[in-house]
Amino acid sequence: MSDHPHFADLPSPLVSKLHAFGQEQVLRFWQELDAERRSHLARQLEAIDLELIAKLVSGNEAKPDYAALAARATAPPAVRRDGTGAAWSPADAREAGLRAIRQGRVAAVIVAGGQGTRLGFDLPKGLFPIGPLSDRTLFQCFADRLIAMREHYGVAIPLYVMTSPLTHDQTVGYWAENDFLGLPKEDVILFCQGTMPAVDAETGKLLMSDKDSLCLSPDGHGGTIKALDSAGCFEDATRRGVDLFSYIQVDNPLAALCDPDLIGHHLMAGSEMTTQVVRKRYAEEKVGNVVMIDGSVRIIEYSDLPAAAAERRNESGELSLWAGNIAVHVFDLAFLRRAVASSDALPFHHASKVTPYLNDEGEIVQPAEPNSIKFERFIFDLLPWAENAFVVEADPGKAFAPVKNADGAANDTPELARQAMVQLDRQRLQAAGVKVAAEVRVEINPRFAFTDEQLAAKVTAGETVTSDRYFGP
Ligand code: UTP
Repeated sequence: MSDHPHFADLPSPLVSKLHAFGQEQVLRFWQELDAERRSHLARQLEAIDLELIAKLVSGNEAKPDYAALAARATAPPAVRRDGTGAAWSPADAREAGLRAIRQGRVAAVIVAGGQGTRLGFDLPKGLFPIGPLSDRTLFQCFADRLIAMREHYGVAIPLYVMTSPLTHDQTVGYWAENDFLGLPKEDVILFCQGTMPAVDAETGKLLMSDKDSLCLSPDGHGGTIKALDSAGCFEDATRRGVDLFSYIQVDNPLAALCDPDLIGHHLMAGSEMTTQVVRKRYAEEKVGNVVMIDGSVRIIEYSDLPAAAAERRNESGELSLWAGNIAVHVFDLAFLRRAVASSDALPFHHASKVTPYLNDEGEIVQPAEPNSIKFERFIFDLLPWAENAFVVEADPGKAFAPVKNADGAANDTPELARQAMVQLDRQRLQAAGVKVAAEVRVEINPRFAFTDEQLAAKVTAGETVTSDRYFGP
């Protein structure tokens, strides 16, 4: 019990600590709270690291000198789309990847804990209907891919889905109510990531969302490794004989989940973390730049890359820093275990965000401009820690259709993603000898045909598809 008479029910070291860090304002409604609400707030306060927050707010943690780093940056070790850049052939890589999948060494990780603020969809993003004709959700599209792969390769592929406190209950409800989207229940593991408190941008004070609650938000996709570990997923994977994790984010329906080529290159390169990229279309493109600096692969965000470095070209006229991050990675489980044990492997990034908060009068304020700083970890910051980190160039038309913004925006919208999905399936049908009339939309569920050979065997060469058609299971 507290020695502070005003804060009965609160451990006194906690009260002292809040005072020491100038954060006692979080207790300003304490007297009004009943026992249950007091314990709710106390639990939240116990869980946060005030020392870390103070360090992050003061900006004392080492900040890289991006201009100097970018000046030394070169292209990362990579295999290009034409197979150059690697000492092995694409066919050998594919063979290695297929072998690992068939041996049951691969698990899928989908992260789906983000707030999805830009999309403006009421439900978690994974429940967004993206199928151009089927309206299948993003989750269903990935589940269908895994079902098709399991069948084709004759192997179980465990799926780890990361949620956050914002998306957890609805996501769990969705999977359970829909019979795990056709996957065996025991192979779908839903787990929740951690949170970080938001602070006022001017004062560094912790913001509150209610009289008994801090403003907490997910700790970034970099929170994945800690959350995987805490939820027992590393143990689970080991028990199953899995030692490779294929990581994607839920908002790219073309993401190469458990892709044999990508996994194969990872294995051939002896890499602990392999990342799939696309070639940047122009120097200032708003993607993370995957680069090599002083022998380590790392990402420099577009906002941190000076124009001079972004525009540098090699002897063949290509951008020197050509590799754009699309957030598709393959990890060795042993590497993730090592990373999680080292608390400083992933730094926190600061993001300036609009956060509704409770003012001193106990009223919710809805700011028009960013008023807060949120702290997030990014998964790609693991790259410099990985042995032989390696990069694989993908065809953007086959691998990248981000769903970030609401329809009507200039880029990364659901409609553009659907167009990319239709275009890809149109090409597959054409390769199988089927003509698709202009303006006609097609969609192939991987459960209808996973490989191009299966597709060719199921469609009639010479046929013309004259109206929208969904090739479903
Ligand atoms: P983004 O950084 O694009 O954020 O996440 P978002 O939440 O989807 O959308 P905005 O920025 O609020 O509009 C990329 C991917 O990483 C996941 C998201 O679910 C998305 O799949 N993510 C992001 C998490 O799982 N947890 C996080 O804390 C952040």
